[in-house]
Amino acid sequence: MTHYSRITGTGSYLPPNRLTNAQLAAELAVKGVETSDEWIVERTGIKARHFAAPDVTSSDLGLEAAKRAIEAAGLQAADIDLIIVATSTPDMVFPSVACILQHKLGIAGCPAFDLQAVCSGFVYALTVADAMIKSGAASKALVIGAEVFSRILDFSDRTTCVLFGDGAGAVVLEASETPGILASDLHADGKHVGILCVPGHVSGGQVLGSPLLTMDGKAVFKLAVGVLDSAARAALAKANLHETDIDWLIPHQANLRIMHSTAKKLKLPLEKLIVTVDQHGNTSAASIPLALDEAVRSGKVKKGDILMLEGVGGGFTWGAVLLKY
Ligand code: UT7
Repeated sequence: MTHYSRITGTGSYLPPNRLTNAQLAAELAVKGVETSDEWIVERTGIKARHFAAPDVTSSDLGLEAAKRAIEAAGLQAADIDLIIVATSTPDMVFPSVACILQHKLGIAGCPAFDLQAVCSGFVYALTVADAMIKSGAASKALVIGAEVFSRILDFSDRTTCVLFGDGAGAVVLEASETPGILASDLHADGKHVGILCVPGHVSGGQVLGSPLLTMDGKAVFKLAVGVLDSAARAALAKANLHETDIDWLIPHQANLRIMHSTAKKLKLPLEKLIVTVDQHGNTSAASIPLALDEAVRSGKVKKGDILMLEGVGGGFTWGAVLLKY
C-alpha cells in the first residue's frame, strides 16, 4: 500500500502566438470594442496572453506539456498508467481530450478521462489522481490542465475577452513512500452556475444557446477571495501545518488583485506568490500547472518546498492542494 503520491516532473506549453494588451486592443478597436492596456493592467495585472492557431486543440497543447513533464520525471510515455486532463475546452464533445492525448503520446491501455471543474480543474484532477494512487489503482499518473479558451470568448464583450488565454501545464504524480501531497480540500456550490458559464449545448446537430463565455466579474471576484482563503486554511489544518509553513503560494491565475488579497489573508509576503497571469492571462485549468512549471524551471520552487495550490472557477468550484514538492 502506497502512503503518498509525489510530483516527480512538471511541464508546460504555450502556443507561439503572443498578443500584448496593446495588440489585442488594436484588434478589438477594428470591431468597435474599446479597451486599453492601462485598463487591463490596472484591473487585472494581465499584460499579454497566448492564443492557439485555429487548428490547434487542447490535446495538442496538453501533449507538449505532457512530454516535458514525462521527460522531467525521467520516465517514458509507456510508464504512464493513468491520464487525467482537466479542461473545459475539449477537442470535441467526445471522446475525451485524455483519450486523444493518450493516442498522440503513442500509448494505449491505461485509463484516461477528462475532469471538468473549470478553473478549479487542476486541483480537482490532482486530488483524484492522488486518491487513485493511494488506493493502488495507479502508480505513475499524468495530470494535465489544457485549455483553448480563445475558442469560447465573445470578442464583442470587453469585460471578458481581455482576460483569458490558451496554454497547458502537466505534472507526473508517482506513488511514493515520502510526501508528497499532504492534504486537499475541494468544494462546489451549484447555485452560482449563472455567474460564470458557457450556456450553449448541442442538440439535433445544432448549438442551442450561446457557446460563448459570460461572467459576472464582480460576483466571481467577491466569491473567489473568500473561498480561496477558507480552502487554504482547511488544507493547512488537515496537514497540521500553518500559514508560516508555506514556501510558495501558487493560486489560479485570474486576476492579480484576487491573488494579492489571497496572499494577504494568509499573511504571506508577496515574494512567496507565484505570478504568471501577467504573461499568460487566465488559462483556466491550465493556469496552476503552467505557473508551477515556470516556478520549478526558474529555480524558485525547490525539492522539499511546501506549496499551496488553489483553484476557483465556474460551477462554482474551488479547492486547495497542499504538497511537499
Ligand atoms: O477564472 C475564473 C475566475 N474569474 C475571475 O477571477 C474574474 C473575477 N473578476 C475580475 O477579475 C474583475 O471583476 C474584472 C477584471 C472582470 C472587472 O474588474 P472590475 O474592477 O470589477 O471592473 P468593473 O466590472 O466594475 O468595470 C469597471 C468599468 C466599467 O465601466 P463603468 O460602468 O464604470 O463606466 C466597465 O464597463 O470598466 C469598464 N470595463 C472596461 N473598460 C475598458 C470593463 N471591461 C473593460 C475593458 N476595457 N476591457
